[in-house]
Amino acid sequence: MSLNSKEGSPFTPGSPVPVELFVGRTKQVGELIRYVEQAKSGKQENAFLAGERGIGKSSLAAFLRYYAATKMNILGIHVFLGGISTLKLTVHHVLEEILKETKREGWFQDIARFFGKYIKEIGLFGISVSFNPPEADLKELVRQFPEILNNLLKDIRKKRDGLFIALDDINGLVGEREFADWYKSFVDEIATHYKDFPVFIMLIGLPEKRDALSKLQPSLMRIFRVVEIEKLSDHEVREFLVRAYRRVSMKIRAKAIDLMVKYSSGLPLLMHEIGDATYWIDQDGLIDREDAIQGVLTAAEKVGQKYLDPKVYRAIRSPRYRSILRKLGKMRISRSFRKKEVEAKLSEEEKKVFHNFLKRIKELGVIESDFEAGRGAYRFVNEIYPIYIWMESERKV
Ligand SMILES: Nc1ncnc2c1ncn2[C@@H]1O[C@H](COP(=O)(O)OP(=O)(O)OP(=O)(O)O)[C@@H](O)[C@H]1O
Ligand SMILES: [Mg+2]
Repeated sequence: MSLNSKEGSPFTPGSPVPVELFVGRTKQVGELIRYVEQAKSGKQENAFLAGERGIGKSSLAAFLRYYAATKMNILGIHVFLGGISTLKLTVHHVLEEILKETKREGWFQDIARFFGKYIKEIGLFGISVSFNPPEADLKELVRQFPEILNNLLKDIRKKRDGLFIALDDINGLVGEREFADWYKSFVDEIATHYKDFPVFIMLIGLPEKRDALSKLQPSLMRIFRVVEIEKLSDHEVREFLVRAYRRVSMKIRAKAIDLMVKYSSGLPLLMHEIGDATYWIDQDGLIDREDAIQGVLTAAEKVGQKYLDPKVYRAIRSPRYRSILRKLGKMRISRSFRKKEVEAKLSEEEKKVFHNFLKRIKELGVIESDFEAGRGAYRFVNEIYPIYIWMESERKV
């Protein structure tokens, strides 16, 4: 294969993975499907999908929505609420997504009638649709949300057996007392007023947001089924890479795939960056060890630029820390570590640099003291940091 015959990378670093390349998460998917099934039988269900940045929350939600739509006859919407911190905007987005989805599925008329004059069909041939109620009505929509959903359900159920709502990136929203209280009364009202309410709602956010929510409204956390996702297994990463390269008819040597699996460290985001970089580096349709090494180094660079704060990126790559980085990389510093244990492997000179290095990355919020583990124990705030240090340490000067 020559460079200009590339048909387009099968990798999607930074956006949810297409359903065909979705791997792993068997346990969580199974559990969530059970909740969707419960909801479908009329009992409203709520879940909270928690996981760190880039671990695969949105991909899991997209997969689940696809599954619910195709295998369970459920209308599914996936709403991204990044940067949104008001209930009005939230409700607005949810309703608009329901409209868009029914439009896409071609049975929009009944639903549209319901929303009346605030609907605009936009785009050539009215392909899309927008929903623009006036401010005063939005307030009512927030207040009467259960009733509105219930009315919508009457139409939805002519075609579908229920509604799946994923509220993604709710990080801005869940810190608000208003949201916690609103959600609690939403759930309570449904439980007391509606016998049959086939709606599954899944909030998606960082683990600490779940904690924030439970602090604001403790009884709310009894309502949510918490599902957590973590790293993928090496086996799943391998399966993903094999499937991705097969899709574009590329071959891959065992040594190369071993290397890519190893450096991906179970992080979905990394396996896409490494897979993608290697895809573009390869020149002959057969990925060998050399391609993979170059791919890993290129991916490290990209990860540094894309996911790390520029200050952190510069600090870690600064020449001052070059030698210590090597050492830390070689010993594969883990996410939680003790200063003493690392120091035991360092020379006097290196200890000083290490001390400064720790101080600096602590200031930058890369590590924090791990109080539970006692004095002198630290923890990288995100899994990506120790892996990044490891990858960077492999770079030849
Ligand atoms: N199960 C999976 N199979 C294959 N690829 C995945 C899987 N989960 C996630 N990915 C890939 O990993 C990367 C991160 O996934 P995703 O965007 O779903 O994570 P996220 O947790 O929603 O991240 P964020 O916190 O930034 O919203 C993306 O490139 C995505 O394509
Ligand atoms: Mg996401």
